[in-house]
Amino acid sequence: MCGIVGYIGTEEAAPVLLDGLDKLEYRGYDSAGIAVFDGEKIQVAKARGRLKVLNEMTHGGEKLPGNCGIGHTRWATHGIPSDKNAHPHFNETESIAVVHNGIIENYLKLKKLLQEKGYKFTSETDTEVVAHLLDYYYKGDPLEAIIRTMRRVDGSYALGIMFQEHPGKLFAVRKDSPLIAGKGKNGNLIASDVPAVLKYTRDVYFIQNEEIVCLEADELNFYNIDGEPIRKEAVTIQWDVSAAEKAGYEHFMLKEIYEQPKAVLDTLNPRIREGRIEIEELGMSDDEIRAIKKIYIVACGSAYHTGVSAKYVFEGLARIPVEVDLASEFRYRNPILDPETLLIVVSQSGETADTLAALREAKQRGVRTLGIVNVVGSSIAREADNVMYTWAGPEIAVATTKAYSTQLIAEYLLAMKFAQVKGTVSTAEMDEMIQELKQLPVHIEMLLDHKEKIQRFANRYIAAKDIFFIGRGIDYAISLEGSLKLKEISYIHSEAYPAGELKHGTISLIEEGTLVAAVLTQEELYKKMISNMVEVKTRGAFLLAVTNVGNTEVEKAADYVIYIPKTHKYFTNSLAVIPLQLFGYYVALGKGCDVDKPRNLAKSVTVE
Ligand code: M6R
Repeated sequence: MCGIVGYIGTEEAAPVLLDGLDKLEYRGYDSAGIAVFDGEKIQVAKARGRLKVLNEMTHGGEKLPGNCGIGHTRWATHGIPSDKNAHPHFNETESIAVVHNGIIENYLKLKKLLQEKGYKFTSETDTEVVAHLLDYYYKGDPLEAIIRTMRRVDGSYALGIMFQEHPGKLFAVRKDSPLIAGKGKNGNLIASDVPAVLKYTRDVYFIQNEEIVCLEADELNFYNIDGEPIRKEAVTIQWDVSAAEKAGYEHFMLKEIYEQPKAVLDTLNPRIREGRIEIEELGMSDDEIRAIKKIYIVACGSAYHTGVSAKYVFEGLARIPVEVDLASEFRYRNPILDPETLLIVVSQSGETADTLAALREAKQRGVRTLGIVNVVGSSIAREADNVMYTWAGPEIAVATTKAYSTQLIAEYLLAMKFAQVKGTVSTAEMDEMIQELKQLPVHIEMLLDHKEKIQRFANRYIAAKDIFFIGRGIDYAISLEGSLKLKEISYIHSEAYPAGELKHGTISLIEEGTLVAAVLTQEELYKKMISNMVEVKTRGAFLLAVTNVGNTEVEKAADYVIYIPKTHKYFTNSLAVIPLQLFGYYVALGKGCDVDKPRNLAKSVTVE
């Protein structure tokens, strides 16, 4: 959570910082702050609430002159969202300023030690400990103070630091929280993520764990934790600035929903060659693939939902048992892992703390690991034995859509690759599946054309109290995602249930008019689903059905039907989820919710 930025150069720093924070607001948005150094004094402005409050308060940055500064947008962990707890934080003389993304795990112990030495704290944050510790170790050499501080703190951090005694310098350091440095024409920058610097440069350095960067207006120097200079190569970012902007859409979420045909195509294309699935980055020989006897798919939130879907595909096609786990559960349940196991972690950000911890746990226990990741160079991408990128491009909206869709594609491709190697699927069926995969972007495009119909339906439900999603098999996995999409942005209570399980308790919640969205794309479960729909309809439910085109019989049970184009039974999730994403979006829009930045959430969950 939280986003940090920093700038040093020839331009006024404050507007650059505010602009960068605007691109990082998806990472946290309960308060924001900047500190700007004019060469003599560090001035600070911070405010509870969205970035626009800070923007107005500083007149777009005009009130804080100076060419060097750091900024922060916060998702509160330690201490409530307030002006006092907002970053930057300072030492007592306000000569050292710090912004922080991450968590200092031993902050209570350090706070007590510092208090015993006479340090006074003004906030409830863990970050303030870093400012005082830097002060404690600072004897004129900033690098030394930073290194000694790093050796005392446990936990995760990306820090931006300014020392009043060193006007021409800005420092940053990381451990387990993302950090990049950018080399611009009129100055250099640091940030938690690439979009914050793209306006100024495409040449970025990915700062690795326990590396320190010292920025000056015209140079960047890198050091390891022993203070020794290290060389780093800049990476040129290929994607366009517009990829991280709304491009005329009202919300990032809608833009990203519309980017799905392209994202799916970009993820598929490089992996289908001459009618075969080729995944070079898997780094496994055919013998190694054949030796895998069990797969774990471990992830959080929507990424976990793709795993629930992929289990059916892997087991059905490659006949390998798959366990799907929530990362926060997996790591503490002592799972049975052996050398014939493959652990797949799925993550858009590549920084999710629980998923990263699960990956590390598996690696420590000698298990082969594969990351399905969207953000290039992220922690999971770097630490997994192999990484398969989902080429969704930057995803800004907190509610994932295009990353989810590309994760599904990556998992289908993997399952098909395993089936291809193991010979568990005939060539004819494989050919048919490849054709169906290639058609998915076209089908998604068609579904997007019906957005007005879904918007009209969604507008009827903006006052709903509860909405249920039901399905069987893969349709249950789709329901999980439909339900999460709706509730996370519209704040309407919603649950997803395996359709056959409802009558074991939850059906008592169905009242006259309760909306139940039934997903029925699996032909062999179609009749059973109709029975479950009738069960809730008799108890007063209003039924929305999402089913394959041609299944008109459903109209006898459903009050409203959305048809999706026919595809292979294992790929229906990729289509059925589209109207459900749109439904969630339009309900939230109709309610006037902040669609891209729902309350209490942040895009990248880097705390456990
Ligand atoms: O970055 P990750 O894919 O690891 O994030 C996992 C979840 O936090 C994420 O999918 C979350 O559930 C989304 N907000 C759902 O829209």
